[in-house]
Amino acid sequence: MRISLIAAMSENRMIGNKSRLPWPSLPNDWANFFKVTEGCRMIMGRKSYDTPDRLSSKVGNFVITRQADFPLEEGFTRASSLEDALEHCKNDKEVFVIGGEEIFRQALPLADCIHLTLVHGIFEGDAHFPEFPKEDYELKSRQDFPTDEQHAFAYSFLVYERIS
Ligand SMILES: NC(=O)c1ccc[n+]([C@@H]2O[C@H](COP(=O)([O-])OP(=O)(O)OC[C@H]3O[C@@H](n4cnc5c(N)ncnc54)[C@H](OP(=O)(O)O)[C@@H]3O)[C@@H](O)[C@H]2O)c1
Repeated sequence: MRISLIAAMSENRMIGNKSRLPWPSLPNDWANFFKVTEGCRMIMGRKSYDTPDRLSSKVGNFVITRQADFPLEEGFTRASSLEDALEHCKNDKEVFVIGGEEIFRQALPLADCIHLTLVHGIFEGDAHFPEFPKEDYELKSRQDFPTDEQHAFAYSFLVYERIS
């Protein structure tokens, strides 16, 4: 099983602010998210599940929570820890960890690949994408996009692969 992370962060590493994204919607980032993750199951923290901006996979999702009776909508399965969620996915070709900060922190040491959208701006927020050891990863690709009518901020798609 390949473990991939996918996140969007600002230049000051913000990924969330009061349970919302810190920046106005970037439609091309949503499109990239669904293109990259297509056909794969997703793992998220309970707080990310609870956000209005919640993203999910059509083929299955795990929500990590310590609350044994936490009610979940159809298409979502409770997991008691990241390890528990990964155990459920062990026969999958690839699984995506989609946030938030707490879950990224736990998953980063296990990540084979990191898809990072860098939003070119400085934003206020209360959730970060953790620093990760750049020497452990190779930047495989980078695509840069300018602002346009639909995108108030320039952004870049970065793909890091772990150097084995
Ligand atoms: N920009 C992005 O790419 C992106 C992506 C996703 C989320 N976000 C943002 O990130 C923020 C949320 O991040 P967050 O760090 O606050 O929360 P989170 O990582 O989404 O969820 C944290 C919750 O996960 C559960 N949890 C964490 N570790 C666990 C463990 N070892 N065992 C069992 N359960 C565990 C706990 O749930 P219980 O409290 O229920 O036990 C904990 O409260 C939001 O602002 C959201 O918008 C941004």
